[in-house]
Amino acid sequence: MKDLICPSILSADFARLGADVAAVLDAGADMIHFDVMDNHYVPNLTFGPMVCKSLRDYGITAPIDVHLMVQPVDRLIIDFASAGADYISFHGEASDDCEHSLRLIREQGCRSGLVFNPDVPVDALEQFIDYVDMVLLMSVVPGRAAQQFIPSVVDKIKQTRELLNCHTTSVRLEVDGGIKVENIAEIKAAGADTFVAGSAIFGSNDYRRTIAEMRERIDNANTT
Ligand code: DX5
Ligand code: ZN
Repeated sequence: MKDLICPSILSADFARLGADVAAVLDAGADMIHFDVMDNHYVPNLTFGPMVCKSLRDYGITAPIDVHLMVQPVDRLIIDFASAGADYISFHGEASDDCEHSLRLIREQGCRSGLVFNPDVPVDALEQFIDYVDMVLLMSVVPGRAAQQFIPSVVDKIKQTRELLNCHTTSVRLEVDGGIKVENIAEIKAAGADTFVAGSAIFGSNDYRRTIAEMRERIDNANTT
């Protein structure tokens, strides 16, 4: 499975979002990570489906990875699917019926993701494994950009990778929060294949160089 570098637009320049997203894709990013916060599930408030649709209308064709930090989730699943999302992930505790929400994402033609906060064990994953296309492990408390990676998540990535290996090879393992050039190899070595990075990419003054350095560290990570 190809390793994907996914800049989070939470740290992009909102005043010129289309151009900034185009720039980061031109610099080598694989997928755009879209952090949706509702001032309810998390205190912060960001953007909704209209902004996703605007990026599509602007000409962005790369996959869009919608990370819902909202409650309830089902209405926004439908709205983001029609707005052009590819992946839609939600936090298990924010849905009344995870299996239903995961199925709904697929019925809408998107790939489904289940998110686990740093303090939530991944044990529940097994019961939903047949409905999941991606597992998203949070490596910071959701709600804000530019936080420190929580080191204990490394073991959780390993544990999740082992669990996935017992069942399937087609589910992505995404890690989100505090990823930068300096720690991306360790995250890859633990078993991740999809890497969200907001401030480390949009906060750098050379997107191309930062993404290239990340990819080099991923490619050279010790995965044996
Ligand atoms: C946190 C978001 C993350 C975050 C990543 O709630 O889900 O996607 O923006 O930002 P950095 O890479 O700056 O930690
Ligand atoms: Zn996110």
